[in-house]
Amino acid sequence: MATNNDDLFKNLVSHCKEYGFIFQSSEIYDGLSAVYDYGQYGAELKKNIRDYWWKSMVQMHENIVGIDSAIFMHPTTWKASGHIDAFNDPLIDNKDSKKRYRADVLIEDHVSKIESKIDKEVNKAREKFGVSFEEQQFRTTNSRVVENQKKIDAINERFKTGMDASDMNAIRELIIDLEIVCPVSGTRNWTEVRQFNLMFSTQMGSVSEDASTLYLRPETAQGIFVNFLNVQKTGRMKIPFGIAQTGKAFRNEIVARQFIFRMREFEQMEMQFFVKPGTEMEWYQHWKEARIKWHYSLGFPAGKHRFHDHIKLAHYANAACDIEFEFPFGFKELEGIHSRTDFDLKAHETFSGKKLQYFDPELNESYVPYVVETSIGLDRMFLSVMTQAYKEEKLEDGSERVVLNIPVFLAPVKAAILPLVKKDGLPEKAREIIDQLKFDYMCQYDEKDSIGKRYRRQDAIGTPFCITVDHQSLEDNTVTIRYRDTMTQERIAIDRVKNTIESKVSYRETITAS
Ligand code: GAP
Repeated sequence: MATNNDDLFKNLVSHCKEYGFIFQSSEIYDGLSAVYDYGQYGAELKKNIRDYWWKSMVQMHENIVGIDSAIFMHPTTWKASGHIDAFNDPLIDNKDSKKRYRADVLIEDHVSKIESKIDKEVNKAREKFGVSFEEQQFRTTNSRVVENQKKIDAINERFKTGMDASDMNAIRELIIDLEIVCPVSGTRNWTEVRQFNLMFSTQMGSVSEDASTLYLRPETAQGIFVNFLNVQKTGRMKIPFGIAQTGKAFRNEIVARQFIFRMREFEQMEMQFFVKPGTEMEWYQHWKEARIKWHYSLGFPAGKHRFHDHIKLAHYANAACDIEFEFPFGFKELEGIHSRTDFDLKAHETFSGKKLQYFDPELNESYVPYVVETSIGLDRMFLSVMTQAYKEEKLEDGSERVVLNIPVFLAPVKAAILPLVKKDGLPEKAREIIDQLKFDYMCQYDEKDSIGKRYRRQDAIGTPFCITVDHQSLEDNTVTIRYRDTMTQERIAIDRVKNTIESKVSYRETITAS
């Protein structure tokens, strides 16, 4: 059993492979770094998360529609969006370990360490003063907290100034001044900081002279922007309205670590909300609240999510924040919410020479709408669900089990149907039950090994219900239903099985709460 977060994460990664959730891409050829394949249970869980997002966004909002645009786009798209010129990461190498890092991440990690010190002081004080504790007052008056907060503000200011001016020397000096060491060599022997473009390119066309350079899209959002008028006109959409889509995105991440947290090929779930200029900050607040509620709706413990406001805004944004999740390796970005102004539509107007404006019947005038975007990585969401769900438990009888407490409506397999023995007509009875359930739920039939071993296997893939068919089932048409989280069992009539599962699997209430 794991005793710390590092071990827990390692065990989770092994579990994902052992139980068919995630495999390294092209493993038989020794794998491809930061590229992963989803196995039989992973693909189900990923689909369920995607469906939950799609239903919350598209099905539950009359004014949001979904599209599915191509991965390949006209290359000018990326000139207009700014990705060719500005989609860079600042990289720095340690000369001793030969390891490469993102300079901004080294600085952010340093800031996080100071933030942890502040959090420790605050928690200590909260414990000491109990209900009378005034956190805000403490944060602004306690000398150690104030001192550390000043340090953070000064670092952030220098970082922002350097990045805004694309002054990579200033970023290197900041790393040197903060005495940041390479986590591998422990030295401060750093190279210069260089900008590196993250887009993958490829060729379209059969003859090399004719071929034009295309880019694999680094975000799905641009497919929405270029279709803004198509959708608005054909759907007779009135502002404010949104366009959503899910799909693959590609980034040549140089520092790709932490399993599926940072991948080179990944999937995004994005929604662009088009609003009247001047109302974007209201909508930005609206979507911040709506999206954090969506995360809370999964029922994770309080304190697992937090907002992180951006100090260095992307070239297109006038406000931006991340929703961070506490992964085993710390709080990290899970979703971004960005007020993208009219940057993208205006840029596409300029580069394409086509008007991308909305005629507002109430104002009797046309304008380029402003956009508030919500953008979440499906793979990161998957990782957050798995890290939250993965539990190594010691049971009362001294044995251990690994269980995935995945929210029931997201579980890859909803019910396992298990004949107690492989004879006496029990398999046939079990198949009858599966035949009734399989139209509505992903089910699994399993007759191999002892019933205890089968329960453990289902726990390990997060199956919320195990339905056991025994000899009594043949006599009175009842089965036992075993609940994954509590391991309790009850005997119910076979014709109640479907309703029992339905009441727990439906996400009607969850989605309403989001
Ligand atoms: N359209 C805006 C946009 O793409 P972003 O913050 O660069 O914004 C949005 O990406 C989300 O996509 C992130 O919050 C993260 O969940 C996910 N994401 C970004 N890069 C990723 C990567 N290399 N691997 C996995 N997920 C990634």
